Amino acid sequence: MKTILVTGGAGFIGCNLVRLLVDQPSVRVVNFDLLTYAASYRSIADLDGRDNYCFIRGDIRDADALARAFTEHRPTAVIHLAAESHVDRSIAGPGVFVETNVVGSYNLLEQARCYWNELDAGRREAFRLIGVSTDEVYGSLGDQGAFLESTPYDPSSPYSASKAGADHLVRAYHRTYGLPTIVTNCSNNYGPYQFPEKLIPLMIIRGLAGEPLPVYGKGENVRDWLYVSDHCQALWRVLQNGQPGRTYNIGGGQEMKNIDVVYALCDLLEAFRPAAQNAALRGKSSYRELISFVTDRPGHDFRYAIDASRIQSELGWQPEQSFTSGLQQTVRWYLDNDAWLQHILSGDYRRWIEQNYAQR
Ligand code: NAD
Ligand code: TYD
Repeated sequence: MKTILVTGGAGFIGCNLVRLLVDQPSVRVVNFDLLTYAASYRSIADLDGRDNYCFIRGDIRDADALARAFTEHRPTAVIHLAAESHVDRSIAGPGVFVETNVVGSYNLLEQARCYWNELDAGRREAFRLIGVSTDEVYGSLGDQGAFLESTPYDPSSPYSASKAGADHLVRAYHRTYGLPTIVTNCSNNYGPYQFPEKLIPLMIIRGLAGEPLPVYGKGENVRDWLYVSDHCQALWRVLQNGQPGRTYNIGGGQEMKNIDVVYALCDLLEAFRPAAQNAALRGKSSYRELISFVTDRPGHDFRYAIDASRIQSELGWQPEQSFTSGLQQTVRWYLDNDAWLQHILSGDYRRWIEQNYAQR
């Protein structure tokens, strides 16, 4: 029986991953999450009561809470996703990013090390800790090339700098103490349950509400898009067959300019809920008319692209979704899950976004 401690399992990627893991034979999942503004407890509440699943509301900044989780649940592996994850918020207030992403990751590593030191030889060898990170730690690319696992770190935002700090610690705990850690660096995820502050769900909800679609700068920046279930399958493979001490890049192989992503979203909204039938778009003949070019993000990385040949050749993983099919499923999902959206849009997030848009 594998017991996998997942941190951040109530967030976007985490809840998709937890769903994949609880359906595997001989796997028990312990979900450790603080339930910040970005979490969606509703997305995993139905798992309560399953005998191979347990939820702990806990803070990775609290070393004692982590120590209790290790002692009580005796995990065979840890997948670490808990983080503050939004670049714009990190620009507005970097402190919590350092506390959660750097200090919280340090706490997790330290508690994992204390626990791991006491295991018998067989369990020590089988133990794994995966640090889930981002391609943003590599910095910005020009028109050509792609990030390799050997690309030097060069983060631009407080978010990516804090993730870089965590990655260095994850690797240092392997080199210094022998803790069997692995780092993964993935590109921009999209799909069900993504909090609507990130580009794709934000454009969907604002479009449906007939609100302006804020495109930073000229919309020329390029991101690689990875469907969330493809990412979760990759993490599952890394957990089973990844080599301790190694880094794996994970990408969707789907590079797009932001403006083309927004055009594609407008066209899907038009197909599923035509502007002419949406009262919120009164006076507009198409969703594209909502596009509004706004002041660029400071330090905005121009382009990210991933060379995922290592995970493909060593672990046999490759993405299944094209951007076209993934985006279509995503828009459909947001249209069908209005109750989830209304729930997540209440409270803190609402206040934050009100302030943020007032400033622009
Ligand atoms: P998210 O913001 O949707 O979820 C983060 C989760 O972490 C939330 O459930 C939140 O409650 C929890 N959390 C935050 N602070 C915590 C704390 N102090 N203690 C315990 N839990 C805490 O993020 P996501 O998009 O699901 O990203 C998950 C991970 O993947 C992050 O580490 C992120 O850096 C990384 N990542 C995300 C993307 C992406 O496109 N979403 C891309 C690359 C890497
Ligand atoms: P985002 O989803 O915040 O992810 P990241 O910054 O981690 O890549 O943004 C994706 C791209 O979309 C990024 O280049 C910034 C841009 N963007 C906009 O143009 N408008 C927006 O309102 C948001 C949130 C992002």
